[in-house]
Amino acid sequence: MALLDLVKHRKSVRDFLDVPVEREKIVMCLEAARLAPSACNSQPWKFIVVDDRQLKDKLCDAAFGGIYSVNSFCKMAPVMVVVVSEKSKFLARIGGMFRGTKYYLIDIGVACEHFVLQAEDLGLGTCWIGWFNEKGVKSVLNIPQHKKIDILIALGYYDREKLGSEHGREPIDKIASFNSY
Ligand SMILES: Cc1cc2nc3c(=O)[nH]c(=O)nc-3n(C[C@H](O)[C@H](O)[C@H](O)COP(=O)(O)O)c2cc1C
Repeated sequence: MALLDLVKHRKSVRDFLDVPVEREKIVMCLEAARLAPSACNSQPWKFIVVDDRQLKDKLCDAAFGGIYSVNSFCKMAPVMVVVVSEKSKFLARIGGMFRGTKYYLIDIGVACEHFVLQAEDLGLGTCWIGWFNEKGVKSVLNIPQHKKIDILIALGYYDREKLGSEHGREPIDKIASFNSY
């Protein structure tokens, strides 16, 4: 699909089918993420794919209890991807301190969107998940406590008929201008 069509087609999916996702497709999504640009080519990410049913259920129980239960729809997703934010290269960190910019978060965002768009192109649905119990996720997957997890991605097949209505977006003339602010 042409990129703009793909972007128009993608929506957050919160209602997944109980169908396993082929490993080859997951690897294609990882490949798209792997090729993402990053500040100083730091590649400050590690993607932990959880597609084992029992482990995924345990992960969701730990991630989406209490105040995070709004995201418990993720229990339906056959795959959860945990994105560990790794340390950027020295130059990117120093540059980021000077600029007051968290380049690593931009990097993670770009890589995750590559993942998500590749998934969409393969007929798979995704939902970015930023609201979750980070400690719980770490303990289930033996991720050291000092590591940072900023985002998860729910992944799986979905029924397009069941998708909600379009999310509104601001028009171009409100979000962009030519030649001055
Ligand atoms: C960084 C980030 C965090 C998000 N966290 C959540 C989340 O925790 N739960 C959820 O249901 N959706 C989450 N979303 C999805 C947004 O709600 C969604 O992208 C937005 O409403 C636009 O809808 P659309 O993706 O269908 O176009 C997140 C999206 C981003 C980019």
